[in-house]
Amino acid sequence: MQKIITLLFGIVLFSTGCKSEKKEKEELTIETKKQEISTFDLGKSVFNGKGKCYTCHKTDKKSIGPSIQEIIKVYKEQNGDIIAFLKQNAEPIVDPETYAVMKTNFAIIKTFTPEELEAVKIYMMDVSKGKTQ
Ligand code: HEC
Repeated sequence: MQKIITLLFGIVLFSTGCKSEKKEKEELTIETKKQEISTFDLGKSVFNGKGKCYTCHKTDKKSIGPSIQEIIKVYKEQNGDIIAFLKQNAEPIVDPETYAVMKTNFAIIKTFTPEELEAVKIYMMDVSKGKTQ
């Protein structure tokens, strides 16, 4: 009887021990993943990926929308807040006449996390200064 109890106790200890070890490993991979991608890279992937911003905003040439450089220049000059604009809390200051075209993107932009919004802003600022990667 004593032996069986010790055995059962051992199995319980063993299985819970395994579980917590697994959890620790999972947490570790999440942390390393977070560190692997920089704010610039996150911004880049949102800008060129799910945000599709790149289809209308090139780095230094006007296309459907103003260039990234033009946007950053105006925002610096006028002390604008890009994140407030992207959250629809601020009026357009770069080219209000074509704002209707930009407005079609707010449905996608609404799905961005605060981290992604910040990353897009950093990405645009870095790109306007000539950073490419
Ligand atoms: C379908 C084309 C199109 C796409 C896609 C697009 N934009 Fe725009 N964007 C425009 C146009 C046109 C303007 C100029 C009108 C204006 O100033 O609001 C503009 C203006 C802006 C401005 C300046 C706003 C201001 O103050 O005038 C910012 C910032 C901006 N876009 C960011 C983004 C980001 C970030 C994305 C991706 C999530 C994006 N845009 C995707 C067309 C687009």
